Amino acid sequence: MTDVQRSLVLVKPDGVRRGLSGEILRRIEAKGYALAAVELRDATPELLAEHYAEHEGKPFYAPLVEFMLSGPVLAVVIEGQRCIEGFRSLAGATDPTVAAPGTIRGDLGRDWGLAVQQNLVHGSDSEESAAREIGIWFPQL
Ligand code: RTP
Ligand code: MG
Repeated sequence: MTDVQRSLVLVKPDGVRRGLSGEILRRIEAKGYALAAVELRDATPELLAEHYAEHEGKPFYAPLVEFMLSGPVLAVVIEGQRCIEGFRSLAGATDPTVAAPGTIRGDLGRDWGLAVQQNLVHGSDSEESAAREIGIWFPQL
């Protein structure tokens, strides 16, 4: 019996622009998760439509997609026991203004006038999402 999982992590364009990719990877590795894939990528509207399918139709969907197209993202697959839950815990709450200190969003993020879109990272939220999202970003894995 093993709980080894893989999760899709994205350093969003704000994180890459601010030079925080290394700091975010450092926290993932310091936690003890392995990096199974790391690639700097330009998202496309098609890829984001798949990735954010669950949010289509929500008021923040269009600005979110526009933000995610505003610069490169670092796409990462991490691996380890319960890493899906573990990375969500490292990332902190969605809204960086109130995310707990000690978390990526709480330590490194804040509201820059774009509500909660610019929150530095994405992490898969379930085994189903992880499998789906890894398939979208790294079909070869
Ligand atoms: P993520 O998917 O990026 O790991 O973040 P999450 O689970 O914490 O947040 P989720 O509810 O899945 O939302 C996806 C991303 O959409 C943006 N968002 N904006 N009210 C808003 O303006 C709003 N709500 C969500 C954020 O970038 C969020 O991470
Ligand atoms: Mg989410």
